[in-house]
Amino acid sequence: MDRVKTGITGLDDMLGGGFLPKTANLVEGAPGTGKTTLGMQFIYNGITQFNEPGIIITFEEFPKQYYYDAAAFGWDFQELEKKGLLKVIMTSPEVSKLGVESVGGLLSQHIQQMDARRIVVDSITHFGRLTQDPIELRSLEFNFINALKREELTCLLTRESPVLLGENTEDAGIGFIVDSYIVMRYVEIESAIRKALFVLKMRGSDHAKDIRQFDIVANGLEVQARFEGQEGILSGSPRRMADSFVKAFVKR
Ligand SMILES: Nc1ncnc2c1ncn2[C@@H]1O[C@H](COP(=O)(O)OP(=O)(O)OP(=O)(O)O)[C@@H](O)[C@H]1O
Ligand SMILES: [Mg+2]
Repeated sequence: MDRVKTGITGLDDMLGGGFLPKTANLVEGAPGTGKTTLGMQFIYNGITQFNEPGIIITFEEFPKQYYYDAAAFGWDFQELEKKGLLKVIMTSPEVSKLGVESVGGLLSQHIQQMDARRIVVDSITHFGRLTQDPIELRSLEFNFINALKREELTCLLTRESPVLLGENTEDAGIGFIVDSYIVMRYVEIESAIRKALFVLKMRGSDHAKDIRQFDIVANGLEVQARFEGQEGILSGSPRRMADSFVKAFVKR
């Protein structure tokens, strides 16, 4: 089956080649882990490597900053917008909800005009502003995601995680709605903070089950090897495994 590649080498490998087409995919992470970078890169690579026009919906309040951040990675978003291959929409949750739900909404128009194939929503956490009621929130998110899937787009949604280190204790209702779920975490190893990433679930596909290290470098996200010889990564403060155990069980 065709895969929608992120173009982020290590990540596509973890996803069995990439996302499944027309699915909703969640990237959850603590502040500053790289959610926005991953989303931008998914869209940028889609346009420049895979000929798939894309839309970014962001609730950030500083449009200029968004373009600067992309440019810092060498991604000229303004140029791509001029060519009609990219649309960055700065909006509020109220407006995007309307845009998708109403027939012939603004978003549907953009999607059709550009023949968009990918969309990033950064971040879905902002929908929390729409209601205090968790059940209503889940139904809003569910409707929004389904509307995007009906447009035949491959969606990447980011979500802020309140935990810096360690496991997430919050109810992740949206985790059940999405087709795949990627988690980004900070990990403390030998007195340094590193970033870890893993695929929590992926419907209809095999995926990597291990936890990999990643960094944000000059040209975006770079997924590296798995953490070797460490256990308890998800606790945020892993322990080194006994050497004999490592030699016996961890493949080199
Ligand atoms: N050009 C760059 N080169 C190297 N690292 C960078 C660059 N730009 C950003 N970073 C790193 O990426 C981190 C932020 O990435 P990003 O904005 O994608 O995270 P985020 O998860 O979206 O954050 P937030 O929770 O604030 O939305 C920064 O803290 C910095 O460490
Ligand atoms: Mg961000």
